[in-house]
Amino acid sequence: MHIEGIQLLEFRNYRTLRYTPSSRLNLLLGLNAQGKTNLLEGLAFLLTGRSFRTARLAELPRWGETTAAVSGEVCRHEGVRSLRRGIRQLEDGTWQATGEACSWARVIVFGWQDLAILNGGPAARRNFIDGVAGRLYASHLATLGRYRQIVERRNHLLRQRPSGGALASRLAPWDEQFATVGMELIDRRRRAVAVLQTELARLFSLLAGERQKVEIRYRTALGEATEPAALRQLLERSGAEEVRRGQTLVGPHRDDLAIELDGIDARVFGSRGQQRLLALAVRLAEVLPVTEAVGSAPVLLLDDALSELDARVRENLLRELAQAEQVFLTTPESITVPGATRWEVKEGGIAAA
Ligand SMILES: Nc1ncnc2c1ncn2[C@@H]1O[C@H](COP(=O)(O)OP(=O)(O)OP(=O)(O)O)[C@@H](O)[C@H]1O
Ligand SMILES: [Mg+2]
Repeated sequence: MHIEGIQLLEFRNYRTLRYTPSSRLNLLLGLNAQGKTNLLEGLAFLLTGRSFRTARLAELPRWGETTAAVSGEVCRHEGVRSLRRGIRQLEDGTWQATGEACSWARVIVFGWQDLAILNGGPAARRNFIDGVAGRLYASHLATLGRYRQIVERRNHLLRQRPSGGALASRLAPWDEQFATVGMELIDRRRRAVAVLQTELARLFSLLAGERQKVEIRYRTALGEATEPAALRQLLERSGAEEVRRGQTLVGPHRDDLAIELDGIDARVFGSRGQQRLLALAVRLAEVLPVTEAVGSAPVLLLDDALSELDARVRENLLRELAQAEQVFLTTPESITVPGATRWEVKEGGIAAA
């Protein structure tokens, strides 16, 4: 799929913008603080109705404005579709986003914050794999929301500590659901990891220009178990400790991913450049599985993806991106890539460069 055109109105530092990008590789060039990342954010907002930078809608309208609009046309084999999204402040001061979903619109974003997939805590890796699973399997995010509610209910009961046998009987129905929904979540995350693995290995070697074994694995206290009963057993075993600490101590909200380079944990091993390359490869590894699952390629938004990479790796990356479908790549450097369209972003405006 690709974006044929986008209009921004009072969005971040754009007062009004009309932009008709190329359906292949777009280089968004410009000095710092001109609006490159803001434009990527607008493109993502058009497709998903969400920002990848903030959960607070209030940050998106131009400072001092109470409304913003993002609209545009997206295209895939069956034709063009118009998308219209608005953000506005209601009378009670809260912010509201309007606009309908497009079931096949997919976007994969890479930015500096993705380094956390490698060197951050387990939560960053869980978010990452939930994002991937959400793009692959339509119901994953709803399941995740349901699971969080169940954990909250359990934690609430654990903190209340009703006396005698009351706790066990009040937990029982929640434990049942916890095991079923939790296992569903783990199953999809495992599948997402498995589909990433092949592409990750291929892409990392291709970009790094040398053969190194990259491995990504799902880590859970369950080991290889696949039945909800196994999750219930884990719950039972940690029962006393759960009551003492007043929280649910096992389950997918405690799981993690292992990412290894030649058998060594990439979090501790790995130079900064290697970590950035690995984070980028992990994101790009999603392109093929998402394309197969949705029936069209996702739009790639790569924010400053060249930084910290050496000349050889950059060349490999740019060659790969020139063959991809629609890509937006920002950089503060003035680069040229055969076949790519160059745009200059300056003070909240854009022009062919
Ligand atoms: N809601 C907003 N209203 C107006 N301006 C904003 C808003 N949010 C951010 N800005 C400003 O937009 C400018 C451009 O930000 P952006 O992050 O897009 O820069 P950039 O071109 O990606 O720069 P860099 O190369 O440093 O990453 C910044 O100066 C920022 O302060
Ligand atoms: Mg930026």
